[in-house]
Amino acid sequence: MALTTAALLATATERLRAAGVPDPRLDARLLAAHALGVASPGALTVRADEPVPAEAAARFETLVERRAAREPVARILGRRGFWTLDLVLGPDTLEPRPDTETVVSAVLDRVADRQAPLRLLDLGTGTGAILLALLAELPNAHGTGVDIAPGAVATARANANAHGLDDRARFVAADWRDGLPDPAGPLDVIVSNPPYIRTADLSTLDPEVRGHDPAVALDGGPDGLDAYRLVIPLAARRLAAGGWLAVEVGAGQAETVAALMRAADFGAPACVTDLAGVPRCVIAQG
Ligand SMILES: C[S@@+](CC[C@H](N)C(=O)[O-])C[C@H]1O[C@@H](n2cnc3c(N)ncnc32)[C@H](O)[C@@H]1O
Repeated sequence: MALTTAALLATATERLRAAGVPDPRLDARLLAAHALGVASPGALTVRADEPVPAEAAARFETLVERRAAREPVARILGRRGFWTLDLVLGPDTLEPRPDTETVVSAVLDRVADRQAPLRLLDLGTGTGAILLALLAELPNAHGTGVDIAPGAVATARANANAHGLDDRARFVAADWRDGLPDPAGPLDVIVSNPPYIRTADLSTLDPEVRGHDPAVALDGGPDGLDAYRLVIPLAARRLAAGGWLAVEVGAGQAETVAALMRAADFGAPACVTDLAGVPRCVIAQG
């Protein structure tokens, strides 16, 4: 006899818990909503006592197996919400994190005129998350996203197309160690969420991160700060007077990154905290 939604969810939750998944109940519900083709996990409640057809139950079983092997839910679903956007992921992109929205809001809070024709640059764009979120809020802005991974650039382009932002976003495969690409004229905003994990710490990351986010998106070198040392002086040379540089930082890095900004002649860097109260973004004016 077919099992009910509630029974399948209970078994899956226990299986994920036993596999060490941090939020097994939520993840089981997200995967069940996907497998059963319902709009949201909330909609499962009204179907709790309904029997689940064998095909949907088998689909759910496969998804639970992947999650129990510590593949992140967003990788399984192939997409992730960021700011107001639903973004497609690829094997070459980091999964965008809610903490990174701190960079978006730090910039928006400081832009004097959101209708202005601003020129933006996103270094290490991944899915295009930061650039596309900003373009969605700044209707007359244009921007370039740069990434060393051609696969990430292709995914970012697909995300720009999906959100109707492709006429204002361009994406370039390039390595910032070779300098910055050449959008015409000085820039009003440069953003970056660079790799910032210390190399020695990579093996200690959760399996979801070390097994599924690309190493080039994580590895910040021996002290985690390699990218900042390169990107901050480059940004200083490319910003318009009064333009903003905003970078995401890892826990404990904000003061050192602020010092790197001051050394590159940025005025009064500010540290902005994420929702957990951790300094997550350093922003300064050129
Ligand atoms: C932490 S991820 C951030 C991705 C995206 N901006 C986000 O916040 O979700 C860092 C990104 O920098 C890119 N990257 C790493 N080293 C690079 C380099 N030398 N030049 C250009 N991009 C680089 C990686 O491929 C990766 O997409």
